[in-house]
Amino acid sequence: MAKTLVAYFSASGVTKAVAERIAEVSGSDIYEIKPEIPYTQADLDWRDKTSRSSVEMQNPSSRPAIVDKAANIEQYDKIFIGFPIWWYVAPTIINTFLESYNFSGKTIILFATSGGSGFGKTAEKLKESVSVDTKIIEGKLLNGNLSKQDIKAWIDSLK
Ligand SMILES: Cc1cc2nc3c(=O)[nH]c(=O)nc-3n(C[C@H](O)[C@H](O)[C@H](O)COP(=O)(O)O)c2cc1C
Repeated sequence: MAKTLVAYFSASGVTKAVAERIAEVSGSDIYEIKPEIPYTQADLDWRDKTSRSSVEMQNPSSRPAIVDKAANIEQYDKIFIGFPIWWYVAPTIINTFLESYNFSGKTIILFATSGGSGFGKTAEKLKESVSVDTKIIEGKLLNGNLSKQDIKAWIDSLK
């Protein structure tokens, strides 16, 4: 069976916990998308228009740097990519990640956590960072304390 990867970015640990559960349930490898400069509490203050996250998210062309290029994407056909919803879409570091590798012919399944917002235009925005033959599936918002059974049922529904 082809190996699957779970790649995730998590600024405060919520998405990380979900990513670990998906990797465990699906027997996937796991890779953390780590920013070269970690986000501080002040960086994440969405009420402050001048905070790092606000400045980055106001500029859709921003591409925060990632610490490494070690996700070995070529080994996988199917890649789960998880992140917190920031300003109704994926943080632009996810665009950095997508533009750092060749996802041609691969299937990407998105998952996210949020304070309540849905995916909105998230998938559409991320398509700009991959080739036309990359399939992006919107996937699921995995908020709340989902059991392993819930996660397994979701993964099985994708097959
Ligand atoms: C800069 C910033 C912007 C956010 N924007 C939204 C938003 O538009 N909608 C929403 O429901 N939650 C929003 N949130 C909340 C996060 O999506 C939520 O807390 C998420 O679970 C955090 O995941 P993490 O711990 O993996 O970083 C935002 C959080 C931050 C820090």
